[in-house]
Amino acid sequence: MDQNHRIEDAIVVKSLVKRFGSFTAVKGISFSVKTGEIFGLLGPNGAGKTTTISMMTTMLSHTSGSIKLFGVDALAAKDNARQMIGIVFQDPSLDDELTAWENLDFHARLYGIKNEKDEIIERVLKLVDLQDKAEKQVKTFSGGMKRRLEIARGFIHSPKVLFLDEPTLGLDPQTRRRIWDYITKLNREQGLTIILTTHYLEEADSLCNRIAIIDHGKIIKSGTPDSLKRSLGGDVVRIGVERKTELMRLLKGKPFINSVKESNEGLEISAKDGSKAIPMIAKIADRDGISISYATVKQPSLEDVFIHLTGRDIREEGADGESAWKRFRGR
Ligand SMILES: Nc1ncnc2c1ncn2[C@@H]1O[C@H](COP(=O)(O)OP(=O)(O)O)[C@@H](O)[C@H]1O
Ligand SMILES: [Mg+2]
Repeated sequence: MDQNHRIEDAIVVKSLVKRFGSFTAVKGISFSVKTGEIFGLLGPNGAGKTTTISMMTTMLSHTSGSIKLFGVDALAAKDNARQMIGIVFQDPSLDDELTAWENLDFHARLYGIKNEKDEIIERVLKLVDLQDKAEKQVKTFSGGMKRRLEIARGFIHSPKVLFLDEPTLGLDPQTRRRIWDYITKLNREQGLTIILTTHYLEEADSLCNRIAIIDHGKIIKSGTPDSLKRSLGGDVVRIGVERKTELMRLLKGKPFINSVKESNEGLEISAKDGSKAIPMIAKIADRDGISISYATVKQPSLEDVFIHLTGRDIREEGADGESAWKRFRGR
């Protein structure tokens, strides 16, 4: 056990790097995860989330840097680390021909669970409400049921930390919310520390206590969802107006406004207090006979944070991040 290790830190990652040949997928990232929290790595496709998680779960060798799991060097003491973690992979990894029970039984044996094996399997199936489906072949399951079974499997050896790589990828919104409920339940009722990766802003926002935003192999910002949103320094005000450039010129430099930019239908304004800014903007517009068709104010979302930090939408990226970025710039 490391002398400097703080009890509240479940995981400490320092300057972690992964190179694939001449390409560097993870460029020296550092972060820590506190015991009992749900921590999210949020980033677009190709950001390096799976690569990072794979190193943290000892599935992939690292190039340089360090990873400590409850004070244990996860890169040196791999077996020790593996006992402490459960993993749910991005790609489904259940045996479709086997029943739910058989899938869990196989996994339990893999982890050398002998005492009370059947009771444990029953318990984890119940945690994800699949106790009635134990004897059903997995190939008859819906996407959401398969995901729940994988989460149950990741938890079977009572790990201290559960890693979930894109836990709701490709699921419909309703099923996604159900999976969120199970993840929250595992965290609250079982006291499980959870690390997940996602490119769904809503998922990171509603599930995670803290988030690190990762882009092109680097963490560009981290904090609680609220602190990230507050870091934009105010509300987002949208104004519908045709004479955009004129109004923008009139508003620039006004003390109640942080920044103004043009959007499709008008202007997008960052203001310390949006509801107070709107009447002042209306008055300025009115003086020059500029008509405003609508005005809305909202608190910034994580989407606004991502756009602010990267200059683009998280969904702009296709499977091939680089070319999507070029398409975006070429527009
Ligand atoms: N085995 C590999 N060999 C070469 N490049 C890889 C390999 N695995 C991932 N990459 C590249 O590393 C980058 C990060 O990938 P990944 O970690 O899967 O991103 P994410 O999970 O955030 O979508 C991508 O550009 C991907 O193409
Ligand atoms: Mg991935």
